[in-house]
Formats: sequence, C-alpha cells, structure tokens
Amino acid sequence: MRRLLTAALVLAGVVGAQAVPRLTGAEAETRARAVLDTLTLDEKIGQVSMAHLFRFLEGGRSGPVAPNAGDIFSRLRPGATLNGGGDAPQPNTPRGWADALRGLDALGRQTLPGSVPAVFGTDAVHGVNNVPGATLYPHNLGLGAAFDPALTGEIARATAQDMRAMNMDWNFSPVADLGRDPRWGRFYETFGESPWLVADQVAAAVTGLQAGGVATTLKHFVGYGSPGLGRDRADAEISQKALHELYLPPFKAGIQAGAMSVMANSGSVNGIPVHASNAILTDLLRGELGFKGLVVSDWNDIDRLVTVYRTHADLVRATAASVNAGIDLYMVPNDVEQYAAALKEAVEGGQVSPARLDEAALRVLTFKAGLGLMDARPAGGGVLTDHRALARRAAAETLTLLENDQSLPLRKGRVLVTGPAMDSAAIGLGGWSVNWQGVGKGNVPDVPKVSTLATALKATAPVGVTVSALPDGKREALLKAAANADTIVVALGEAPAAESQANNPTLALPPAQVQLLRDVLGTGKPVVLVLMAGRPILLPEDLQSRLSAFVMAYLPGSEGGAALADALYGRAGFPGRLPFTWPGTLGEVGLTADRPPEGAGEAPLPLYPLGFGRDYTSFRTTDGQAVVTADGVRVSVTVQNTGKATGTGTYIVTASLPPAGTLEAVRRPVGVVRAALKPGESRTLSVAVPLERLEAFAGDAFGPVMGSVVPGPYIFQIGDETARVNLP
Ligand code: BGC
Ligand code: BGC
Repeated sequence: MRRLLTAALVLAGVVGAQAVPRLTGAEAETRARAVLDTLTLDEKIGQVSMAHLFRFLEGGRSGPVAPNAGDIFSRLRPGATLNGGGDAPQPNTPRGWADALRGLDALGRQTLPGSVPAVFGTDAVHGVNNVPGATLYPHNLGLGAAFDPALTGEIARATAQDMRAMNMDWNFSPVADLGRDPRWGRFYETFGESPWLVADQVAAAVTGLQAGGVATTLKHFVGYGSPGLGRDRADAEISQKALHELYLPPFKAGIQAGAMSVMANSGSVNGIPVHASNAILTDLLRGELGFKGLVVSDWNDIDRLVTVYRTHADLVRATAASVNAGIDLYMVPNDVEQYAAALKEAVEGGQVSPARLDEAALRVLTFKAGLGLMDARPAGGGVLTDHRALARRAAAETLTLLENDQSLPLRKGRVLVTGPAMDSAAIGLGGWSVNWQGVGKGNVPDVPKVSTLATALKATAPVGVTVSALPDGKREALLKAAANADTIVVALGEAPAAESQANNPTLALPPAQVQLLRDVLGTGKPVVLVLMAGRPILLPEDLQSRLSAFVMAYLPGSEGGAALADALYGRAGFPGRLPFTWPGTLGEVGLTADRPPEGAGEAPLPLYPLGFGRDYTSFRTTDGQAVVTADGVRVSVTVQNTGKATGTGTYIVTASLPPAGTLEAVRRPVGVVRAALKPGESRTLSVAVPLERLEAFAGDAFGPVMGSVVPGPYIFQIGDETARVNLP
C-alpha cells in the first residue's frame, strides 16, 4: 500500500512541491497582522510597492546581484519584485536565476521589516519563458484547441516545478481574458472565445500551478480581451449583460479554484480606466465574486492614469484613486521612490485612509504568509526537469487540420519544404519567449533549442519519402526544385510579438509570405500549408481555395516540429479543434459561435466555425441524451470512430435556452466531450453542465441585470444529436 502511494505521488509530480497556499486564510492573516502591527507608515508603503528586479542587480540592469543590494532593499522596502517580459539576471541560466533569487530572498530576510522577504513574480505564461534552457509549451490558444483541461493542468504543474527550482514564487498567469477579437495582439495568450470552455482551462491552470507550489494571477480583470478595434489597451464597451454572460465566467472559475491574486486590466471599460474603477476592482471583484486574495496592478498603470489616459492631474491623485478603487500592490516597477512619495502624500493629506493602506499591506503580507515566505524553506538548486515529452504531447494535441484533399498523410514521393517558419525557433515560440517580443527581438541573444518542422520532417521521413528543404529567399532555385517535387510543404507564420506590437488589424501575413504561397501554388503541385500563428489569418481567396491541405499549428512551442512531423506523416492524427471562430472576411471579425439571432434572421457563416477540425478518420454521434440532476444537466452522447485511423472525437456541447426576454445565443457552448478512439471503437461520453452555465441575464438596455435559469425547455446539441430537458 505504502509503495503504491509513493509511486502515485511521483507520477503526479508532487515531489519537492508543496501546494499553496500553505496556510489557511485565517492562519496566514493572523501571521500577517502580527507583522503589520510592527510596521511604520513608510514600511507599509513599501509593502504595497513592486520593484523591478534590476533595481538590485549590478549596474541597474541584467547582471549579478549588486554588492549594495541590501542597502537598496533597506531604502525601498519593496513588498514584491518582478522581472519584465525580457528581463533576466546574468547569467540567464536556470542556475543564474536560482542564485539571484535566492540571494535576493536572503537579503530581504536580513533587511526588510519583520524579516519578511519580497515576493518575486514573473510571467511564466507557456513554461518559464524567460529562461532559454526551459521547455516551452504551446501558447494558451493552442491549448484551447486541445480542449483538454487535464493537459493544461499537467503543463501548469510542470511549469510550477521549474519555477520552484529557480526560487520563483508567483506566476502572472493564467490569462482569463477571452479571445473575441483576433486583431488583438494578445489573442494567442487566451484559451479561446467561449466563456465556459475557457473557464475550464483557467481552473485547470490555477489548480496545477498552485499544486506545484506557486501563486497564480487571474489576469486582466476585466474586459481586457475586447478592446475597441482590437487594439491593445483601447477602451472596451461592455454591457452588464455581456459582462456577466461572457467576461466573468473564467474569472469566477479561477477564483473558485483558489487563485491567490488577480491583476487589473491595464485598459479602460466604458470610459473608466480599470485601475481607477471601484465598481470593477471592489464592488464586482470583492463584493459580487467574493475574491479574498491580492489585487495587483499591471505594469506602471497608476502612472498611466496621468501620462496616457489623462484622467487624473498628477500622481498623488492617481494614486489615491487607484488605491481607493482597490489596487493593493502597485507594479511600479522602476520609480519606486516616486510612488512612495505620492502614496505618502495621499495618506498624509487624507486622500487615502490609514485603514485602506493597512488593508492593502495586510493583503500583501497575507499573500506572502500563504506562500510560506515567513518561514525558513529549502531553496531550489537551479536544475530544470526535462519536460520535452510533455511539450511534444501538448503540441500534438493542438494541431488542427482545416483542409485535406488526400495530400496528407505524406506517404511517398519527393517532399519539398520551404517558408520562413520551416526552421524558425522565433516563429514557433511566439512572443513572451526569452524576450518580451520573442526570440531575436530583445537584448538577450540566446536562441533556445527547439524542434522545427523542416529538421523534423527530414530526420523522421518514412521509407519512400525523400525530403529536401530550401529557404524561400532563393526563389529561382526554389521554383526549380518545386517543379521536381511531388508535394510542397510551405511553413508560414507571424513574426513573434507581444501586446500592442502584436496587433494585426488586417489579419494578414506579410506580403512576401503571400507572394511565396502564390509562387509555389503557381507550379501546380499539391501545396500543404502549415501555419504558425496566434490568430486566424485571412488568405486571398484564390490562394486559400487552391490549398491541398491546411494545418493550423498555432504557436506550438519547443517540440512543435516533432509533433507536426508525426501528424503530417500519419503517425498521429489531428486532435485539435478551433477554439475560436475563423472569419471569412475582415468584416466578420468578432463573429463568435454564441452570436444571438439578428433582425434579418441570418447570421453570417464563418470560414471555419468554433470547434472545427478534420482528421484522418471520421466520427459518428448517436444516442444524445440530457438528464436533469441536482445541480444542472448531464448531457451524454455515444461517439464512434467510423474511419480507418485512430483519432480523437471532440464535440462542443451547446445549449439553446427558452425565451428569456433577452437576446440569447442561438447555441451557447456549455461544455466539451472528447475521446481518443480506435477504428470502429465507440464510447459513451458525458459532461455535467452546472446550472450557472444556463443562466440568462435579464434587464433593460442600460440597467443592471439579474441572472437566473429561466423555466422551460433547453435543447442540447452534440454533433448531429439533440436532446431536450425541461427545467422547472
Ligand atoms: C502585461 C502583463 C504582465 C506584466 C508584467 C504587462 O505589460 O500586461 O500581462 O504580467 O506586463 O510583465
Ligand atoms: C516588459 C513587459 C511589460 C512592458 C510594458 C517591457 O519592458 O518586459 O513585461 O509588459 O515593458 O510596457
């Protein structure tokens, strides 16, 4: 019995990790209050400030811990520190990180009040992405396509394990925003468009990371994913109905899963910057959703109230507005002195009450107590685990086949591979990889080791297939080789980018890539397009319609090439299904599966709907059933693999609500069923749909809304099957 238990623990990756929070809320708060009671005003102000890591490194930038770092700690007294998307200590190795952070932890214990060190936070959004040696997983959009929260949980756990090995305590992850507008530069950081399907992924990420010993951050509360014109940090107009129906579910799920912090939306909603919105950060988040943890600002966003939004005349007023609205900890991150002075003036001038400052500082200290920072604890030694097998399995689960006229799998003949994404670590990893804007973009020159498509296709070609790869630059040589090839694989993709720099208002690829596609299609040979992109891309219709096969690979991470080669050669199928609606034209941007009926009766049909994806096999659904249970509806269906290859049948379960007095989606996605099946195999799959997923939010156009499950018939659809229940 004992041996069995040990084996199970090892398999689950528990070794070395202690789940957080380590103390109950009440215990952590008692410990925190005891420290708070000893703090001076300046020390409390320090607790609620987050300083950039570089403040403590040699030369104020990427380097070893500075000899006078202890003095700087004593002066700034920061409650927290962080690195930005491209910022690392030197050397930027796992050991370098582990040593630097252990050093800062020790200095914090010596110099900070109550011997409580600063908590260090980082963006480990697809693995520990600032560390060139770490395994990187597909970005969230790809995981959304896998529709497999258990896989997301495993990745979260592995990420936490690597973070702990480098003494990192706090992850600014997961993103709980929705991907509703593919023009937005952070679309790829979302798990997709559909609130409840994203909610399942967010809950899994929170559970996995915190089980692995690091605190999570639900970001960016709220409405960040729907900025006007798809421009990062532009104003979002959100009705109460849309807020409750669409934007809150992933945050609710994350809070329910125990997320220890929430980050505020750096943009504005309905004309109010979120960092100054009491309605959002306090009434909604703490009142309605009952969140009890830490609210952290986004990067420099109190300053932005003055410098960008111009909603507040100076930093003192902006600080008062923001702290009173509900920001507990300010990610300053550089001019900590200036913030300390502004907050002190606001407190001494009566614009921020001492009680509110105490509350914020208490939350920071409680957060750290929950992480175990008030106790002695073992330090990580900077040795990362090799997670490549997991990264490969994850990439394989994301791959989505959009078109195939029998060109795939590649079974024989001469294959020519080309295109800028065929051997590019930068494109395959996307933004937030080594550097903020991706590999090759910042001041860290390291190129991580990744498996790329052309290399993997060459290395693992089956008997009967010969592969050659040519860069697209030498066009004449390329077209000559193309004339001799049987199939051409063209790997296209978006250059890596993050945040506003990743906005893509036209959803287009660079003209040179479109020209390359046009040229190879011009040879008349079958063309297989492999796309590595963080959003749906619009191709000219005359090119799109001539593709022999089209594979969406999202941003597949360290093992993308190996996973793609398996799928293209037919050693594996294509389990991925689109986690978003793929528009056919720019005019259809924002089209989603949950669109309500329109006055003229017809909604536009997208190019590919949510949940779309082909495979090397086919499936059939039969015997759809819905049964009312104590807390919702259980929906089940039998899925059979009716083809000749093993494959994964994935079906989004949708619900049609009875008339509720408000516009409701024709079909609202409420859950997913999914199973890998051998040829001929069939299995009955079921999913529990909790009542909250069936709520309608009634109210008039400008007023508040009330959520309720309207009595009447509910029709569930799964594949070709429908099932109906009456709810009282
Ligand atoms: C981003 C956040 C991120 C923070 C720290 C901000 O610009 O909006 O998502 O956590 O930077 O890197
Ligand atoms: C950081 C990012 C941050 C951005 C804000 C960059 O230098 O690396 O994390 O989001 O600045 O402008």
